[in-house]
Amino acid sequence: MPELDAVLQARLIQLERRQRHRQPISGQRFDGVYVKRDGKSLVSFSCNDYLGLAQHPEVTAAAHDALDRYGSGAGASRLVTGNHPLYERLESELAQLKGAEDACVFGSGYLANLGVISALVGPNDLILADKYIHACMLDGAKLSQATLKRFAHNNIEHCRRLLTKYRPTCENCLILTETVFSMDGDRAQLDQLSELAGDNDAWLMTDDAHGLAIVTSAPTDVMMGTLSKAAGSYGGYVAGTRQLVDFVKGTARSLIYSTALPPATIAASIAAIKVMQREPQRGERALALAKLFSSRLELRSAESAIVPVIVRDEKRALDLSAMLEANGYLVTAIRPPTVPESTSRLRFTFSMLHDETDVQSVADLLKEHLACEL
Ligand SMILES: Cc1ncc(COP(=O)(O)O)c(C=O)c1O
Repeated sequence: MPELDAVLQARLIQLERRQRHRQPISGQRFDGVYVKRDGKSLVSFSCNDYLGLAQHPEVTAAAHDALDRYGSGAGASRLVTGNHPLYERLESELAQLKGAEDACVFGSGYLANLGVISALVGPNDLILADKYIHACMLDGAKLSQATLKRFAHNNIEHCRRLLTKYRPTCENCLILTETVFSMDGDRAQLDQLSELAGDNDAWLMTDDAHGLAIVTSAPTDVMMGTLSKAAGSYGGYVAGTRQLVDFVKGTARSLIYSTALPPATIAASIAAIKVMQREPQRGERALALAKLFSSRLELRSAESAIVPVIVRDEKRALDLSAMLEANGYLVTAIRPPTVPESTSRLRFTFSMLHDETDVQSVADLLKEHLACEL
């Protein structure tokens, strides 16, 4: 066997032993909340299409129309020839939605975080990041080469102590958090963080990937988000002042050196935002279903459309996920390194298209099994 393969084979065996080998499984979404896997239809509680817009007729019609008119690909990066006029419309819709002066759309949320963070701060600067921020914020922080310190999750006092210790020797300081935490579904304490940032000459950047249209958050200096979840489309964005957007458009490497989004994807996002604004009850219903589930399982009341059921052990999470799948529900087990050690979990996400009966049934089934295991 060639040497590379031998090394990789040994690593794969290690991952397998620790129940950490991950592989994508084929699955086809249909009718909003269903997934077909191996010919079997499952009700999915593992999708971030919270408002059911990915297959909404207005959204797909807009994408079809743009596909027919403009073709499948953008052909170049935004700064070369890929900057389709649809970008301008989407960015102005996003700016309005976020209560910002302007917005800049990236190829994905991942690319937005990489590009924005590394454009805003550098080696002489400080980043203070919540321990639970998403991997792509963390990757952006590492790429920036700024001094990176993590504060305990949602612990304002810890963040304050780190500011006192490290802020005086750094030129600029960026605080990173999420509005709604992706694996825990809880919310950041933005009022307190904003005040702390203001008092310490620091900038506050929020990742609103899971908050958009579900919860309302106070504006912050740098508001990042994605179009791949509640908007049911694809792409990332940052919103803020005109200067911020101007600067980011000209300097963020993940925007400059990557091909622009396909026009059909931009058109889908514009249509999705229109439905999102016209029908706020979509987000309200997703949140209400999450609350119904959390109360049925006697968990802390849901603060967003994400509810984790933390079972600690990797194998237990996998076994419970398999049990739910055998009963017609798709709920993916989330394990380290996506979540901290000993916090493996089932991560439930709720869509406004879910049926109350399904939400209650899956909660009751899980409750029964968790009780049996005790
Ligand atoms: C909190 C958070 N930020 C950013 C991203 C990345 O967004 P995208 O999927 O658009 O790359 C995700 C999701 O994958 C996320 O959960």
